Amino acid sequence: MNFKSQLAQVEVFSKVAQAAKNKGLETYVVGGYVRDLILGRPSKDIDFTCVGSGIKLAEEVAKQYDHHIPLSVFKNFGTAMLKMDEFELEFVGARKESYRLESRKPIVEDGTMLEDLERRDFTINAMAISLNEKNFGDLVDPFGGLADIKKKIIRTPLDPAITFSDDPLRMLRAVRFASQLDFDIEPDTFFALSENAPRLEIISAERIIVELNKIIAVKKPSYGFKLLFASKLLQEFFPEMVALQGVDSVDDKSHKDNFYHTLQVLDNVCQVSDDLYLRWAAILHDIAKPATKRFNKKVGWTFHGHEDKGARMVPDIFRRLKLPMDDRMKYVQKLVRLHLRPIALVKDEVTDSALRRLLFDAGDAIEDLMKLCRADVTSKNNKKVKRYLENFDKVDQKLLEVEEKDQMRNFQPPITGEEVMQVFNLSPSKIVGEIKEEIKEAILEGRIHNNPTEARELMYEIAKKKGLMPANNPS
Ligand code: CTP
Repeated sequence: MNFKSQLAQVEVFSKVAQAAKNKGLETYVVGGYVRDLILGRPSKDIDFTCVGSGIKLAEEVAKQYDHHIPLSVFKNFGTAMLKMDEFELEFVGARKESYRLESRKPIVEDGTMLEDLERRDFTINAMAISLNEKNFGDLVDPFGGLADIKKKIIRTPLDPAITFSDDPLRMLRAVRFASQLDFDIEPDTFFALSENAPRLEIISAERIIVELNKIIAVKKPSYGFKLLFASKLLQEFFPEMVALQGVDSVDDKSHKDNFYHTLQVLDNVCQVSDDLYLRWAAILHDIAKPATKRFNKKVGWTFHGHEDKGARMVPDIFRRLKLPMDDRMKYVQKLVRLHLRPIALVKDEVTDSALRRLLFDAGDAIEDLMKLCRADVTSKNNKKVKRYLENFDKVDQKLLEVEEKDQMRNFQPPITGEEVMQVFNLSPSKIVGEIKEEIKEAILEGRIHNNPTEARELMYEIAKKKGLMPANNPS
């Protein structure tokens, strides 16, 4: 197979080929770019490998341009980067040992092109395209990567045990590529995943989460999670999710399998949102079900309080997985905590106060919460699904009406703590918080409207009951 015409469309390749010729360096385009070119999705990152010094090649490439191109050299790694407007070019000499861009170890031994390719992760990533005069554009494919792309297969070029022991993160990369490309993992490679899963132990959480988030970011992440589960990789870094799997039966009563339910919810959410953290909320919404599971002779299986316990589990899970501990964690925690609340609002006789409370508690996450609730409807009975979703339409409508009236979702207390302190000559203390809380409650309950005049009136009343006198009592 030859890619001459494709390469001709991008100036970079003729410049690199010229530089390679000038320096007498055998040079190839390698890895992800080649794979993506074959898949018809050319990318911005282009990796070049030459037999010799990648740094010298990069310097010569920079010289081919009239204008200045920023060059970064990483001597220890023997790599160099050129940052162009459209592309990021990376240059490296062919190496014998495992190919790991992020490895902290300096390269040890130079190698041939074949040696370089065979130490890569998958056959689909172990192809190169020649930039050399004698065979410009020819595909170098010693391990059948092209055929594997056609067969939609992820396979290691060497014995998978060797490839995975070079860098165990590759086990997650196998699942990640399978998920992104909708490929199968070839049986021997898959078997090696389960054999070597415990070796993930030596991989940092920071590297793991990058791959996991890529698996979650695809159109239908359930596939990747099923692969992670079946290969026992998931157990290594996310045992709480594995614990969701399984069905218990007592007296012929069983509950649904919460692992597969969670995956269905996750896929559903993905159809309506690209937001990574809404996806995380879907993954974690039932995470405390195993811990709260009880069997009750009358009602069967219950998971009382799983939403609160689940919300309490979120920070620990985020911390361990090295997910961000900022507002994004808080948002996920909020959605987990509130995910049953809209269901309680389906009833006809629901009060405005209950609606105000949800708007107050959810704030700007209200739309996402409703998306999660809709996604949580996973019954196989289509009539039921239709009915539940229509019920949520009604809840949406009610929320909209109350929000228009009372503007609760970005609730700002109409009376500030400063005002309370000033009026009653108080220093910061518990009583100030109590007064504010009572005013907020009165608004949520609908006893007063959300405005400063009514709030101030109530503030005087509450203060009087607490035996407080205004500092500048006009009487
Ligand atoms: N590679 C590898 N083992 C790793 C990481 C990378 O063998 N653990 C090799 C693969 O040949 C890969 C190339 O290095 O194609 C570049 O790696 P990277 O930029 O991480 O991945 P890409 O394949 O370019 O894919 P993506 O950009 O989607 O991550």
